[in-house]
Amino acid sequence: MAAQIIDGKQIAAQMREELKQKVAALKAKGVTPGLAVVLVGDDPASKSYVTAKEKACEEIGIYSSDNRIPATTTQNELLAIIDTFNKDPKIHGILVQLPLPKHINEDAVLLAIDPKKDVDGFHPVNVGRMVVGQEAYLPCTPHGVIQLLMRSGVKLDGAEVVVVGRSNIVGKPVANMLIQKAPTGNATVTICHTRTKNLAEHVRRADIVIAAAGRPNTITAEMVKPGAVVIDVGVNRIDDASKKSGFRLVGDVDFEGVKEKASQITPVPGGVGPMTITMLLFNTVQSAEKTLSK
Ligand code: GUN
Repeated sequence: MAAQIIDGKQIAAQMREELKQKVAALKAKGVTPGLAVVLVGDDPASKSYVTAKEKACEEIGIYSSDNRIPATTTQNELLAIIDTFNKDPKIHGILVQLPLPKHINEDAVLLAIDPKKDVDGFHPVNVGRMVVGQEAYLPCTPHGVIQLLMRSGVKLDGAEVVVVGRSNIVGKPVANMLIQKAPTGNATVTICHTRTKNLAEHVRRADIVIAAAGRPNTITAEMVKPGAVVIDVGVNRIDDASKKSGFRLVGDVDFEGVKEKASQITPVPGGVGPMTITMLLFNTVQSAEKTLSK
């Protein structure tokens, strides 16, 4: 039987409606949540992500400050911009779109963002707090994955989860969240990566597969246990002459094959993507709310 499709657009829309109410409540108390978005250079994929993030802010009433600066910007210039936003009370969240040009040290940039405004959850302070189970800004894509699972009624407690990919943005944090002693965790997690000896053997054991490898067709039907839940975090551009843009987006999972074996599956696009932006809005609203409780 074909899998149920986990509709990320619908779940995201519901969460954004909840956030819209929170923004209205904040505004009634004189606080407009503000997000500073910084894009260095003109990578086409990054440009479209940043535009989508700003549009989503506008739709729910968050103020966004758009900062698109040339690829030739020096690291010191970028650090100075971050410092301005760290000090700006109108700004509750700062997002520097990654990847950065080669001449800029990503670690130094992430470290410069005030952890209290780190709505991406990439600052080592927030990463550390997450790992030890303290309150922290959770990184948006893995947090979105957890929300999709929870809101689709997937049982995490005791589940065998296989995460494919070990990036700092997805693989490592999602694995960490899933092992926490919490209703959003309590899973048994295996992380596979490019040096894993027998990927299929691991994936075959999984009740839940989270594919975040960045390579099309990493997960195929014969690897998946019947009835498994499959979350596809991949966003890969592949050439498609039939499209006006000349490309189309595919995930890391062979969707057509795997949907015949899985019990639930996310599509690409329309699965994890809309959730990533929603969790950014969530963190920004949370940061603005914190200014009231001070
Ligand atoms: N590049 C790819 N994903 C992300 C993300 O979640 N945040 C930022 N800042 N850059 C990214």
